[in-house]
Amino acid sequence: TKTQGFVIAIDGPAASGKGTLARRLAAHYGLHHLDTGLSYRAVGHAMLKAGSDLSDEMQAIATARDVELAALDRDVLSAHAVGEAASKIAVIAQVRRILVEKQRAFSRKLPGTVLDGRDIGTVVCPEAPVKLYVTASAEVRAQRRYEEEISKGIVADFGRILADIKLRDERDMDRQDSPLKPAQDAYLLDTSKMSIEAAFSAACAIIDRVMAEN
Ligand code: DC
Repeated sequence: TKTQGFVIAIDGPAASGKGTLARRLAAHYGLHHLDTGLSYRAVGHAMLKAGSDLSDEMQAIATARDVELAALDRDVLSAHAVGEAASKIAVIAQVRRILVEKQRAFSRKLPGTVLDGRDIGTVVCPEAPVKLYVTASAEVRAQRRYEEEISKGIVADFGRILADIKLRDERDMDRQDSPLKPAQDAYLLDTSKMSIEAAFSAACAIIDRVMAEN
């Protein structure tokens, strides 16, 4: 008999569209959704607010312990500076261990969950029956973010956005602990030339097949 819920693990670089895809899949299949980036952002945000040095490991560890996944406010945490701070504290192994524990507890909710982040298929939920690695070229991701900012009435600079995305990729992929990379058995979804609709359909086809086998 099955005692665990169904877990969909989604990883990918910044601005790959994994968050949108994760939310849509969770709604479609009636699963709980967790954006694990928000937990790293919560630590970064609290550190910035307290005026702490982002390389202060003891402070970051204490801050991570206090994070409550249920109480995270997406709007407060969406700022660019918070994302940058998150990717800096995310290199601290003990911070990751504390947050991963909380994320794993969430992943066991019934009837199942969708988690998105950088290390879900490799570290947080390596047993997930479905793992997706969502990616797109840095140029395409920068273009999407640029259009998003313009549509919000923000004055955006494509060159700066592209440089930021490349720097973030480098930090997330080159770190020692849990670097961003596809799990061995992940399905790769390159959305460079794919609409969100097409990516959603492709993901559903994979998930329906796995669900039928389970
Ligand atoms: O997905 P995001 O932009 O909200 O993530 C912000 C940063 O948090 C990301 O650059 C690295 C870190 N992060 C991580 O290390 N592991 C995760 N599972 C999710 C995010």
